[in-house]
Amino acid sequence: SRGLLVTRVGMDRLKVLAGHFVAGGPASELDSRQTSAEASEPPTSIDVKYRARSNINDRGAYEALYKGSIQEPDKFWGKQGSQYAWKQQFQEQHVDCNIDVRRGKIRSRWFAGGLTNLAFNCLDRHVEDGRGDQPCFLWEGNDVGQDRVLTYRDTLAEVCRLGNWLRSQGISKGDVVAIYMPMVAELPIAMLACVRIGAIHNVVFGGFSADALAARVADSRARIIITSSTSVRGKKSTPLKQIVDQACKLASKEGFKVDKVLVLEHSALPKGKTPWTQGRDLWWADELSQQKPQCDVEWLPAEAPSFLLYTSGSTGKPKGVQHSTGGFMVGAGTTAKYVFDLQPGDVFWCTADCGWITGHTYLTYAPLLLGATSVIFEGVPVHPDPGRVWQIVAKYKVRQLYTAPTLIRALEAQDHKWVTKHDRSSLKLLGTVGEPINPRAWQWFHEVVGESRCPIVDTWWQTETGMIMIAALPGAWPLKPGCATLPLFGVLPVLLDSEGKEIKGAGEGVLVLKQAWPAMMQTLLNNQQRFEETYFAPQKGFYFTGDGARRDEDGYIWITGRVDDVINVSGHRVGTAEVEGALSSHAACDEAAVVGVEHKVKGQGIYAFVTLHSDSDYSDATRKELVKLVREQIGAFAAPDTIHWAPGLPKTRSGKILRRVLLKIAKGETKDLGDLSSLADSSVVDKLIERRGK
Ligand code: WTA
Repeated sequence: SRGLLVTRVGMDRLKVLAGHFVAGGPASELDSRQTSAEASEPPTSIDVKYRARSNINDRGAYEALYKGSIQEPDKFWGKQGSQYAWKQQFQEQHVDCNIDVRRGKIRSRWFAGGLTNLAFNCLDRHVEDGRGDQPCFLWEGNDVGQDRVLTYRDTLAEVCRLGNWLRSQGISKGDVVAIYMPMVAELPIAMLACVRIGAIHNVVFGGFSADALAARVADSRARIIITSSTSVRGKKSTPLKQIVDQACKLASKEGFKVDKVLVLEHSALPKGKTPWTQGRDLWWADELSQQKPQCDVEWLPAEAPSFLLYTSGSTGKPKGVQHSTGGFMVGAGTTAKYVFDLQPGDVFWCTADCGWITGHTYLTYAPLLLGATSVIFEGVPVHPDPGRVWQIVAKYKVRQLYTAPTLIRALEAQDHKWVTKHDRSSLKLLGTVGEPINPRAWQWFHEVVGESRCPIVDTWWQTETGMIMIAALPGAWPLKPGCATLPLFGVLPVLLDSEGKEIKGAGEGVLVLKQAWPAMMQTLLNNQQRFEETYFAPQKGFYFTGDGARRDEDGYIWITGRVDDVINVSGHRVGTAEVEGALSSHAACDEAAVVGVEHKVKGQGIYAFVTLHSDSDYSDATRKELVKLVREQIGAFAAPDTIHWAPGLPKTRSGKILRRVLLKIAKGETKDLGDLSSLADSSVVDKLIERRGK
């Protein structure tokens, strides 16, 4: 095919270039981006040969199974569910859902009558099946040479010790435990220990600030925080435990007391140097060494909550998305089996952090549910050099690599020799998630990384969906770079036009879902009303995704990006309202409005318009203070790339900010700003344009 031919030519050129580099050739010749750009245009459609062990190898086989999954969810999911261990079998008619607000309370119940446990399915079951000595986690530390193999048996023992310790602290079914850790093996271990005893984990990404951690701990009433002394990423080390101390202080000001902090001794800050609160703080190793490596499983109803994960919306404070046990388990396992063709013993590497949903479903749960080996990488892709990712692939003979477009773009910008010097022959399948992938990055991932052998599964889903919703099944149909392609089993996507009417056939609109699915969120913690208002009220009868999408002539679905005020920075969801809140907390700030603009590596960057009080200085010092506030209140990843001094914001007569206009100004598209007649004062716009870049 055209794609393959192009690749061979491209690879030859790369080899030549790699040689140049070694010989110390001039830098200009080494611009790898230029090379791939010259090599070819990204293919519009490409059929990558792949024989799936799941046995779905053409669109016909998929269609047949898909139809059944939509028409008879009880039967389809019952069959999938029976591949897991249940203490008590679920009923034959086990699905009980309503996603139509006009028909009463929204609910998503799956595997009714069933009793199960996620940790049992992830660990005990495999040890009982003779998989005890197989690696469960392969941990690769920040620095080359730091690594650790944990077999299924090792992992089970550590999970049991921690489960017992949590019980000794009075934690039981339904209690929330917060986890704030770097990517060490103890992070998924802590998650598994919680679900083993029926506790609900609330993992807070290690990049969040003390304020953000405090808010999540207090909102979920997590009496225990599990953390580590430090987090090391690249050359930077962050004193996580100190951030936890601060968060505990902040939470107590809000009237919430954290009882215990369990601290893993890790890297730069050893015992003696870690600040300590007697009676509250305890060392992981000291505590766990006193616990037995066996711990009874708490059998839970399928609809018992398993975890909370806070995510940003377009308005208000972050929402505590609550997931189930049975539905989540079967949704996670089933999607990984089909999309990644994941089988027992496969070495699977999901590069996501456990602080995000991808790290929950596809680093921790799905690989273990299927008896695979999951790679955990603590560091950053460019440390100590830009070849680190490919070195890890070679070292562990990774079969499936699941990553984000932002990482692909960052590594694509480096010289290709960083990729080609490492053996990637173990790779059979590549996956992406988090944001739309641009065809150029797709092509590089496919041709350079995957040597044109590996299908790329572009997977669309959300924290709220819990599992992949739209993606290609490898080998089952031709791929199109930048396109998530078709819905998975049980997923019924619909596009609505601006009047809320269903678009049949090709067209573009808002993406909604017409049917409930097993890993669907159950509710927002303590806020069923906000849950219904956010997701089910905007388009009655549907789940509202917040994304726009286009359907092409082949029925493929292309995600076009958020239609609400959520910004996607390096695949991390950031709410405009949160950033605006942080900026506005500056004493000199009168008003702030934030929009997302295209960014070469991050996908989207944050562009903030800030108006100061009339007596304040529009200075670089103030700019720095504003950015610092965002870092403190949310985290470094949410820091604005640009602060645009705004003498005023474009508003309608009723005081509503016209974000559409701000977005155009931010992008520099100031020639055609569209209809400005609703503005209360249109001179504001000219002043804003004049201030651009100053
Ligand atoms: C975006 C991440 C295009 C989308 C699993 C969604 C994507 C949001 C894709 C959810 C994709 C995720 N193509 N856009 N393959 N995957 N998105 O909750 O806007 O962190 O609504 O979940 O990321 O982000 P979240």
